[in-house]
Amino acid sequence: MATNKLLFLPGDGIGPEVMAQVMRIIEWMAKKRGINFDVTSGLVGGASIDAHGVPLTDETLAAAMEADAVLLGAVGGPKWDNLPFDVKPERGLLGLRKEMGLFANLRPAVVFDALADASTLKHEVVAGLDIMIVRELTGGIYFGQPRGIDTLPDGTRKGYNTLVYTSPEVQRIAKVAFDLAMKRNKRVCSVDKANVLESTILWREEVEKVHKEYPGVELSHMYVDNASMQLVRNPKQFDVMVTTNMFGDILSDCAAMLTGSLGMLPSASLGAADDKGKRRAMYEPVHGSAPDIAGKDLANPLATILSFAMMLRYSFNLDQDADLVEKAVENVLNGGLRTGDIMQPGKAKVSTTVMGEAVVRELDKLV
Ligand code: IPM
Ligand code: MG
Repeated sequence: MATNKLLFLPGDGIGPEVMAQVMRIIEWMAKKRGINFDVTSGLVGGASIDAHGVPLTDETLAAAMEADAVLLGAVGGPKWDNLPFDVKPERGLLGLRKEMGLFANLRPAVVFDALADASTLKHEVVAGLDIMIVRELTGGIYFGQPRGIDTLPDGTRKGYNTLVYTSPEVQRIAKVAFDLAMKRNKRVCSVDKANVLESTILWREEVEKVHKEYPGVELSHMYVDNASMQLVRNPKQFDVMVTTNMFGDILSDCAAMLTGSLGMLPSASLGAADDKGKRRAMYEPVHGSAPDIAGKDLANPLATILSFAMMLRYSFNLDQDADLVEKAVENVLNGGLRTGDIMQPGKAKVSTTVMGEAVVRELDKLV
């Protein structure tokens, strides 16, 4: 079997330590499943600023473009907070997304049974939850022009950004959402603010157009304020949610907390498929770099491990192996191991390393 080329970008804070746990699984895959990954590493974010003065170098970008898939840890931290906007660690992440054309961000929010009590919401509200947020990732207000901070002749300062979407941008993300829904419960809720914003009136109309190609999928629309309320009131009403870049940023953090911890949530960012069906792709945990616990072996590696599972599924069509990794994570949780962020009474608190080792042990039991 051909070797799969992976680029590891551990980044900052807890990034390197959670990524190290994925290496264990990669080794296991080679040994037990005969699936080989050729892993190279690069710098991004603060780590790249420290070494090269910029959050994303041309070399790292070129390596990312060449790789079959990229796995990213996390970027940012107080050390770099006061740098000018254009060289902040976050620009590295945004640059990768934009340059690689990763327009489709998949953020599943799944509640593992063992963690249904770790959520701040009532057990019955979240138990069994399985929703997929599809966030547009390379357009909208994050990238729209014009943008800036100007000083007017009278000294008044003006800050502005532009929320802009074109019909092809909306149509391609809508397709991703409908395709995913076809493999799930066949329901898509498109989230907009069409009662106020023209760009999202267009969004709604274009989603409606694409829907005509998917008669088997039920489409609904919701304003974003209502959607945020419904997510905490009754999240199980949703199957696939599709929305703009900024609304998706906000709603996915909200959905993350339904699951008990940001430390559990993986994500995939996908580009357009070429004629061979291959897409550029980057996988990353939804959580940040958690500088307060970095380097202490305390972080939860499960979101990164689950991101790797998404990689197996979406970049390499290794669905069975993705299932194995997800099952191993579930078994570890059922066995009572917890990192600090998901700690519950009566459970065993373990380190990042022990959690990673435990996932490999469960994998061993599964094959
Ligand atoms: C996310 C993050 C990023 C975003 C930041 C770090 C730029 O919040 O991936 O959700 O806003 O997209
Ligand atoms: Mg965010």
